[in-house]
Amino acid sequence: HTARLTLDPAFRIGSIDRRLFGSFVEHMGRCVYTGIFEPGHPRADDLGFRQDVLELAGELGVTVVRYPGGNFVSNYRWEDGVGPRESRPTRLDLAWRSIESNQFGLGEYMAWIRRLGAEPMLAVNLGTRGLAEAVDLLEYCNFPGGTEMSDRRIKNGDPDPYGVKLWCLGNEMDGPWQIGHQTPMEYGRKAAETARAMRRLDPSVELVACGSSNRQMPTFGSWEATVLEQCYDQVDYVSMHAYYQERDGDADSFLASAVDMDAFIEDVIATADHVRAVNRSGKRLRISFDEWNVWYADRFPGEAGLDWAQAPRLIEDEYNVLDAVVVGTYLISLIGHADRVAIGCQAQLANIIAPIRTEPGGPAWRQSIFHPFAAAARLARGDALRVEPESPLLETAKYGPVPALTAAASLDAETGGAALFAVNRDRTTPLELTVDLRALPGATLRSHVLLADDDQRATNNQHNPDRVVPRTAAGRVEDGRLTVTLPPASWNVVELS
Ligand code: AHR
Repeated sequence: HTARLTLDPAFRIGSIDRRLFGSFVEHMGRCVYTGIFEPGHPRADDLGFRQDVLELAGELGVTVVRYPGGNFVSNYRWEDGVGPRESRPTRLDLAWRSIESNQFGLGEYMAWIRRLGAEPMLAVNLGTRGLAEAVDLLEYCNFPGGTEMSDRRIKNGDPDPYGVKLWCLGNEMDGPWQIGHQTPMEYGRKAAETARAMRRLDPSVELVACGSSNRQMPTFGSWEATVLEQCYDQVDYVSMHAYYQERDGDADSFLASAVDMDAFIEDVIATADHVRAVNRSGKRLRISFDEWNVWYADRFPGEAGLDWAQAPRLIEDEYNVLDAVVVGTYLISLIGHADRVAIGCQAQLANIIAPIRTEPGGPAWRQSIFHPFAAAARLARGDALRVEPESPLLETAKYGPVPALTAAASLDAETGGAALFAVNRDRTTPLELTVDLRALPGATLRSHVLLADDDQRATNNQHNPDRVVPRTAAGRVEDGRLTVTLPPASWNVVELS
């Protein structure tokens, strides 16, 4: 089979916000405890942070990390996690029916994120708490000193303000599973007033309103419209969350699931722009896609099945080759919407549906999904380009006919480097891809790296951590045309200079 696309700087979508390649650390299962933080581990540093995990997170290239939840945040008291560790309370976390020791909290997160070299993104609790506690938290983080909250930060060892810019106004407030779940009107009002007060304290903050928890929510669409009618002028972003999985052995529909992600993004844009029109607003809202991934959620017994353990093993999905290819398609979807999606957070960073896995006291390793993320975070820079693909179609049970090829590209005006991200969804037939490069005279092929395997179900684990890794492949540029072969069910990245 053959497919074609074009790389032309004139077909510009928008500039790629580096925050598109973010991640998420929630107090859930073993993401924090024995994930990023494990005092006593042979690789723990002076603050108890696992350096093996920090190194992998650095290699992954995450630019921003959302914290501390997720569902967890909606019954969290941030004050529990600051101050001397020996006096921090042990609490019940109602979200995951777990025991929270609070040995890791805000100060540890800020120190950890500095060591990683990434940007912080904090969520405030708008479930069991509200405006006053959100403002206290902001004062603790960003006010220089001389007030109750800022002096508390200084007393706790952090004289300099944290300068946290990005704030989520709650989490998944449309979900009945959320502690303190609200109607869109209740939440929209609460978000607007919290935003107003937070901006009064620090006008430089950037605020995310909760959109729907997923596209299947019965309130999807009307939730966004009602919430944004209440808080459009007060917020900068609306959030999106999406998780997908293979169901009933239907790998073809799973490989096509990014068409749902594309449609979801376009629906949210349409809804936000409708409110913009009604408000006669000059502002165009952008999207914070602050939870996305493959998650085999059907295997999760549900919160009711959890029994008050500390850092239990929850949703530690082991990802195979197809999962990595699918993650590659979601990254293509995000890059392809760079004009409106500013922030992306793959959920989550360690152990919980994560690119990085660890064992307590033991090793850390890269899951298959690590590789497409790391390549996109490293190479997708500058402008996203519309690539106008022409591709054969694949019939899928869930989404009907879907192009076998999905692709996105970036062009960095500073370096002249271009990167093409391409997936062949066809599980049995390779695709011969021709790329028209005539608008990039002199372009040469630097590399073609791909992830595919004869065993599409192969995974990495602690005993065989590099079973699934990318490999280099050939390709050629001739007469302004690049030709590469995309193997069956493959994720590919082509670097041009
Ligand atoms: O990432 C796991 C959970 O998924 C998050 O806590 C929640 O926001 C979402 O439902």
